[in-house]
Amino acid sequence: MATLLTGGTGFMGSRLLARLMEDPQRDVIVLGRGSAAEVRERVLAALEGSQINGRLRFVTGDITRPWLGMTPAMHGRLLGETTELWHCAGDIALMGRRERLIRTNVLGTRNVLEFAGQTVHPCRLVYGSSVSVAGARPDGLVSEDDLDDRYGFKSAYDESKYQAELLVREWGARPGRSTVVFRPSVLITDETLAAQAPRHPALIFGEVIDDLQLGGTPGIATTLMPAAHRDITVRVPMSANSCVNFVQIEYAVEAMVRTAAEPEPGLRAFHVVHPVNTPLRTVLDIIENRRPGMVIKCVDHVMDPTPEERLVTNTLDGYLRFSQYSRSYDRTALLTRIGDLADPQPIDAAYLARAMGFDRDHTTAPQQ
Ligand SMILES: NC(=O)c1ccc[n+]([C@@H]2O[C@H](COP(=O)([O-])OP(=O)(O)OC[C@H]3O[C@@H](n4cnc5c(N)ncnc54)[C@H](OP(=O)(O)O)[C@@H]3O)[C@@H](O)[C@H]2O)c1
Repeated sequence: MATLLTGGTGFMGSRLLARLMEDPQRDVIVLGRGSAAEVRERVLAALEGSQINGRLRFVTGDITRPWLGMTPAMHGRLLGETTELWHCAGDIALMGRRERLIRTNVLGTRNVLEFAGQTVHPCRLVYGSSVSVAGARPDGLVSEDDLDDRYGFKSAYDESKYQAELLVREWGARPGRSTVVFRPSVLITDETLAAQAPRHPALIFGEVIDDLQLGGTPGIATTLMPAAHRDITVRVPMSANSCVNFVQIEYAVEAMVRTAAEPEPGLRAFHVVHPVNTPLRTVLDIIENRRPGMVIKCVDHVMDPTPEERLVTNTLDGYLRFSQYSRSYDRTALLTRIGDLADPQPIDAAYLARAMGFDRDHTTAPQQ
């Protein structure tokens, strides 16, 4: 009997994998794109060399393809073995193309559900949704049971996650099924990551800021890149008074594994979020304190964007969009399950500076 994991090479899935493997009774099979050897290599890179033992196997697959991209023989074999399926694969291009997002997040999830519905033994499903399913809801307290589209969606990512969770809920509503839906907020860490490890939004944000100050950013002509640490003002379309919910991946993984440990019939959804939203002002202060010369100006719209502003918007638009919301997320159901787990540490300026990579030396030479 085995746990099948999709998304094991990703930021969230790789850490869940490491935590799931702490259970000596558990066999884990990671389904990923590329050869089994390549998937193994990418998982190892993501886990930065953590021990991998005999309870872990890798199979080639693609959730967007029939039979999840497996050979018929492997597909049949895994139908016989799988008793739990953690579906953590997804396309997280927050401002990506709709067709691609729907294919991976919605059709891919439909394929995964089809597989989970055909297993020889009842298959428990654990699904990685997102707080994004709340769409464009601007404010208020989002309940863990809320799932509706009355506020519409400002991005195809949000819509794709909403549609996928609808499918999961339909699947989970059928008799005899046991389903857990997790809705994490923006997952970050202050750990120093290996070069090959999957990135998280705070680090990506920090890297973009450094690119702008140090130069050498792909897509911006080098003539626009003068000396390192230049003074630069960048207008971004966000409100300095808004908040975003960041949550530490270490807490999120522990919360998810503990919550899923108690099987129960039916479907339960849980917000995996930080109890306190982070004011965006904190992020802006960090940038101005740690990167002298860099000024981020919050505006409603960026008229006639400079190349640097286009880079910021293109790279971070999906995250900046969160800054338009002041909503918060109820976590009552989560706490009912894991009330003994300490809340995550506060996300203060020092933590965020580390998460953005601002505590490290910058040896990157500017391009000439
Ligand atoms: N990161 C967050 O802050 C966050 C917050 C809330 C919810 N989530 C949800 O959590 C899930 C994982 O996010 P993440 O941050 O770990 O993303 P990630 O680092 O980009 O990882 C995505 C994973 O999905 C796999 N994948 C994508 N398309 C696939 C396909 N067609 N077939 C098989 N595998 C495929 C990727 O494999 P490759 O290595 O082959 O690309 C990778 O393992 C997503 O569903 C996301 O919506 C994430």
